[in-house]
Amino acid sequence: MTGQASSGAAPMLVLDDVTAGYGDFQALFGVSLDVKAGEAVAVIGPNGAGKSTLMRAISGMILLKGGTVVMEGQRLSEVAPHKIVEMGIAHVPENRRLFPRMSVEENLRVGSFAPPFRAKYADRLEFVYTLFPRMKERRNQLAGTMSGGEQQMCAIGRALMSDPKILLMDEPSAGLAPVIVQQVFELIRKIRADGLTVLIVEQNVQQVLKVVDRAYLLEAGTIRHSGLAADLLGSEDIRRAYIGV
Ligand SMILES: Nc1ncnc2c1ncn2[C@@H]1O[C@H](COP(=O)(O)OP(=O)(O)OP(=O)(O)O)[C@@H](O)[C@H]1O
Ligand SMILES: [Mg+2]
Repeated sequence: MTGQASSGAAPMLVLDDVTAGYGDFQALFGVSLDVKAGEAVAVIGPNGAGKSTLMRAISGMILLKGGTVVMEGQRLSEVAPHKIVEMGIAHVPENRRLFPRMSVEENLRVGSFAPPFRAKYADRLEFVYTLFPRMKERRNQLAGTMSGGEQQMCAIGRALMSDPKILLMDEPSAGLAPVIVQQVFELIRKIRADGLTVLIVEQNVQQVLKVVDRAYLLEAGTIRHSGLAADLLGSEDIRRAYIGV
């Protein structure tokens, strides 16, 4: 593949001075970051830092109080929130948020619900079932009765149904057994190899830094540090604060 993370190209996604919160409470204070086409970028930081809020601000689940989010040159504030997915942004939310009493396949269908995606439904379903043969086997099972790892696959599959350009993943490995966590990181490698751009929030700092190109460190709603994943992995401060070795 050419052009991956190429230096001269305009970034796919750009956040500039974003502030956001809930009611009077401010959770993000002037956050700026960018993600280039083909890149995988991580956001790491302690509990309550604002990582999920950042993901919600990008996918339109919450409105910005200030600043801009621009996807391929278009400001998201000019787009109705439900249209953001049509611009190629898919969000795998924290805690998966599947419909537990709907089947796996019905949950996947939700991901291609928007009118422009419906024509591609069969192709996308085939794609997701090829990526996750387990989902095909379990397609009629109620999502709420699947294991944590299976539910995560279903949530990622649902996001992939819209054939996104960028996938936002909020703690995909949370609550999973170590062996399943490994599978999730393997999957992220696979998704990247397919050319998809990824922005991921993860508590498993050491593991995520091995599958992304760059990372931002968010603390108390502010970007404290950013750099190449390899450099952060080698940084004494990051290791001490986030990896614990
Ligand atoms: N729906 C909400 N209403 C009010 N406050 C909220 C809401 N969601 C989050 N917050 C607050 O915003 C701040 C940032 O929360 P956020 O969920 O973005 O953190 P996080 O970095 O994702 O944390 P974690 O690692 O625990 O998932 C926290 O102080 C949190 O209490
Ligand atoms: Mg969170």
